[in-house]
Amino acid sequence: MKDFLIAPSILSADFARLGEDVDNVLQAGADVVHFDVMDNHYVPNLTIGPMVCKALRDYGITAPIDVHLMVKPVDSLVPDFAKAGASIITFHPEASEHIDRTLGLIREQGCQAGLVFNPATPLSYLDYVMDKVDVILLMSVNPGFGGQSFIPGTLDKLREARRRIDESGRNIRLEIDGGVKPGNIREIAEAGADMFVAGSAIFSQPDYKAVIDDMRRELAA
Ligand code: DX5
Ligand code: ZN
Repeated sequence: MKDFLIAPSILSADFARLGEDVDNVLQAGADVVHFDVMDNHYVPNLTIGPMVCKALRDYGITAPIDVHLMVKPVDSLVPDFAKAGASIITFHPEASEHIDRTLGLIREQGCQAGLVFNPATPLSYLDYVMDKVDVILLMSVNPGFGGQSFIPGTLDKLREARRRIDESGRNIRLEIDGGVKPGNIREIAEAGADMFVAGSAIFSQPDYKAVIDDMRRELAA
């Protein structure tokens, strides 16, 4: 089977007992912790920063932490998140004045770097930086909130992103974020994604393992 990663978005976790909830979702079979950072400026919501990332590491979370920056400006937060234990840092190209520089900064800090594409953001931002990205993250909702519905047009965009990755010959992860659930994960995988963020679909259910197992069954089918 292809190497698929399931990355629960902790935006939908219980913030009052975050360490325990993250631990539970990892015990339930998740691969990566998706960490949504919102600044009430680039996106209309306010969430968590590097201190919370560090707190998860101090609590004993060892799984990769995938930091999705929905902030503007970007660069000043990169070293802070790297020090706090981030494994992957992705950002929205519209939020950085110097995309190439920001990608370089993330890698210099020892993290994997990625670009995030809003539903209406063109993939042409990749044109001159394909060799500098480790992850491409396509948003299948407008960023800011969990619990929204998957925008179907993202499937074509995934196919286009997959084509670009295959042509590059590089080992780049294709991540999808927004409205992913057991009922649509298979067609999303068929369109080319290999890393799946899911927030409400997992955390709204009492049995995280049942949802993650369902997703893996769909991916194996
Ligand atoms: C939205 C965030 C997502 C969000 C996904 O801006 O980037 O990671 O938590 O939530 P669901 O899976 O509920 O759509
Ligand atoms: Zn996200």
